[in-house]
Amino acid sequence: MTKIGIILGSVRSGRRGGQVAQWVLERAGQRTDAEFELIDLQDYQLPVLTAPIPAMAARGVYDDERTQAFSAAIAACDGFVVVTSEHNLSMPGALKNALDHLYVEWNDKAAGFVSYGVNGGVRAVEQLKLVSTALQLAVVAAPVILPFATEFEGQAALRPGKAAVTSLDLMLDKVLAWSTAMSMLRSGPGAEAEIRARIAAIIDGIHAKDLDALRRIYAPDVVSFDVEPPLQHIGVDAKLKNWARVFTVFEDVSYELRDLSIAVGVDIAFGHAFGRLSGKLATGAATDGMWVRATFCFRRVGGAWLIVHDQASVPVDVLTGRVIADLEP
Ligand SMILES: Cc1cc2nc3c(=O)[nH]c(=O)nc-3n(C[C@H](O)[C@H](O)[C@H](O)COP(=O)(O)O)c2cc1C
Repeated sequence: MTKIGIILGSVRSGRRGGQVAQWVLERAGQRTDAEFELIDLQDYQLPVLTAPIPAMAARGVYDDERTQAFSAAIAACDGFVVVTSEHNLSMPGALKNALDHLYVEWNDKAAGFVSYGVNGGVRAVEQLKLVSTALQLAVVAAPVILPFATEFEGQAALRPGKAAVTSLDLMLDKVLAWSTAMSMLRSGPGAEAEIRARIAAIIDGIHAKDLDALRRIYAPDVVSFDVEPPLQHIGVDAKLKNWARVFTVFEDVSYELRDLSIAVGVDIAFGHAFGRLSGKLATGAATDGMWVRATFCFRRVGGAWLIVHDQASVPVDVLTGRVIADLEP
């Protein structure tokens, strides 16, 4: 079922935003066509962004546990209703900070806004529209605007009028319809393009001997059946040890892939190809290497496609146990 996250953007003590988010959640909860969950930024205690790698490059892999938890919550949603106040004609800093922490988790999803403030928070919404564009988050409905003077009793207690309720219902209709439709984007050709980009990043990482770049492509608990022993390499550190070994064996290394074929499901994808490492060995000798059969299995983790299993093998003469290393694709 389509899942919509209702993001409460103010983390201030004594915030009015709690009532607003609760109103949205209760109204949305009367619907049976989607699941709604409150995502309260106060619960995540995200630090001011200090991560060395921007979320756009980190693609779902984060060191900070708070970011990991926030990533999992946002990745699990198909769309969002963002509840925002207005701070100095923009959104609260905590909300901008939270948006900046992630990237792929927002991509190709739909959003609507509910704002409140002296003038209803309209300028915060205008800023949010800009930021959403950068995050490839589609703004798909007119916002619900709640000025203090008309929608809050004594400027403090939310008492939304009939027009505000109608406006919320219309916005929820749109966010839900677009969120459902856009889920196709994330498992269709866009997903295959992202997986191909991941595999291209493996090749770039090998050419640059960049273990950090390679680390970002594998799930932390990847299980790898590599050509070399042992039978299995469990975890990204074990997988990277193999690549580190390759980088000591080769002075210059090149990785060629042929006949890459990819199949994509909702959260699982696999690909297969023929791969060959070649280049100049540390001894100074040049080698053409040998072709191996390579299989890559991806899972969408925190909105990003990561390798959870891979296999590289060479044909063996089963009678003699001899490896057949001279076959060409
Ligand atoms: C730093 C700051 C700046 C503010 N700037 C604006 C503003 O530009 N426009 C406005 O309508 N309200 C402004 N306000 C008032 C807030 O909209 C109001 O305090 C609102 O209740 C904040 O949301 P919250 O209570 O959920 O934190 C500002 C409040 C703060 C704390």
